[in-house]
Amino acid sequence: MKQVMIQPSFQDWRSHARQLLQQGFLPEDVDLEDASATSNLPLALDLAPDIPQGPPILVPHTSKAFLDRAEVTATHRSPARWNLLYRILYRLQTNRDLLKIEIDTDIAQMRQMEQQIRRDLHKMHAFVRFRKLHADAMDEANPFDAHPGQPANISLSAGEDLRKQEHFVAWYQPDHRILPLAAPFFAERFAPMHWTILTPDESVTWDPVNRQLGFGPGLPREAAPADDELEDLWRSYYGSIYNPARLNTGAMRSEMPVRYWKNLPEVSILPTLITESASRVSTMVKVQEAKPSAAPFVPSEHTLPLIQNSLPSCKGCDLYLHATQAVPGVGPSPGSERTPVTLMLVGEQPGDQEDRKGLPFVGPAGRILDKAFEELNISRDSIYLTNAVKHFKFVQRGKLRLHQNPRMSEITACRPWLQAEIDAVRPKVILCLGASAAKSLLGGTFGLMRDHGKLLSTPYADHVIATIHPSAVLRARDEAAGEELYSFLRDDLALAWKSAIGPLSAVEPAVTSL
Ligand code: URA
Ligand code: SF4
Repeated sequence: MKQVMIQPSFQDWRSHARQLLQQGFLPEDVDLEDASATSNLPLALDLAPDIPQGPPILVPHTSKAFLDRAEVTATHRSPARWNLLYRILYRLQTNRDLLKIEIDTDIAQMRQMEQQIRRDLHKMHAFVRFRKLHADAMDEANPFDAHPGQPANISLSAGEDLRKQEHFVAWYQPDHRILPLAAPFFAERFAPMHWTILTPDESVTWDPVNRQLGFGPGLPREAAPADDELEDLWRSYYGSIYNPARLNTGAMRSEMPVRYWKNLPEVSILPTLITESASRVSTMVKVQEAKPSAAPFVPSEHTLPLIQNSLPSCKGCDLYLHATQAVPGVGPSPGSERTPVTLMLVGEQPGDQEDRKGLPFVGPAGRILDKAFEELNISRDSIYLTNAVKHFKFVQRGKLRLHQNPRMSEITACRPWLQAEIDAVRPKVILCLGASAAKSLLGGTFGLMRDHGKLLSTPYADHVIATIHPSAVLRARDEAAGEELYSFLRDDLALAWKSAIGPLSAVEPAVTSL
């Protein structure tokens, strides 16, 4: 049995796996283990070489779909993951359809690990809390300085610029080694902030000046700074968003397992909030009244027929005043279980023609989409098409009605409709077309040109991807620019479609070399 120590990273597994295949090692003749678990053993290279029993596979190949899934699975804490991934990779050499066989024991095991990681990611996104370091305490509190011998470039890599910035630090203990998967979410959310997340396995720092994530060694909980400033801030924030009308401590307990409570300063003010609950309800109702929102018009049960019936009467913001009608989404109507509707496209708002006809994407922007659908062999009918804002916003210039971008407050007001449609359709993947849709689902600071085409994990769907709006293609300054924008759109749509139809697809995943 050949024993191989993997530095616990996907890249290290990948390069060992490539060598093992090239040498002809059968999965049953190798044992891939975490180097950290047995770090006092000699490295694989020092072990007596074992004799490969299989034929060498000189040019190992695999699919991008497998590599993506393997990269996720590699973050699982189970010591069995490296052997599992090697076994699947080995079997893929002769059975390219293996990933589609969901009942296969190896594939089922990989899927289960992926699900556990997905859950861990959602919890991490929800429960990480940053604390602010005092500017004058930064030198002492910089956790990396306290650990001489660790690489100096992990934090404060942009030097003085960053030192002058406020620095936020969080400590968190995920179940799995998911920090590299989780970090992009925080980079989106807290893009302007300089922050560090410490976990026992590794740490990551976001440099907002150079817009870079830097990974470093893990740190024990005690190394997180003891500064309370952010905790106070967070307490008052949580006090203001806390919803006393829905007070249900049992549910809270089940949503916030006790093991996460150590990171949640709000736990200490729960008793105060509970006693103040009644008097806060009336204050809260007043606050809500002041903000435009579709929420009072959205039915409590989120099914497409109910949504379509209620939408026309929405007065959630002022946009209904001038438009002809609210335009709901269109697409196949799902039953209670997840259906073949796996991809949802979210545009900005209806345009002139959509406003007249009451249907999304039936004007010039829709024709760009149709062209991309045709080139990618996607049937428009199999996709759910909708918009972030349901009423057309325009200024009248003579006979023309000129499109205007919706404001963030209008996007936010209309989001309950989009949320209701997402609940009803339960798409596997959502593709946001343009900045307004991306702002609705990914937050106001989302940077489209920087981050289009990335698979983002969110609570809305397995993946949310953002791309440019088809009308950007129409507005391009010249033909070449238009072509380039169109190819962003088409490629991002292709990625969204591929992710949405998943391993069960009839479309052959692209074969890449390992
Ligand atoms: N642009 C959009 O974003 N949505 C439409 O429905 C039409 C044009
Ligand atoms: Fe309601 Fe949205 Fe129309 Fe505003 S834009 S009135 S929130 S449907």
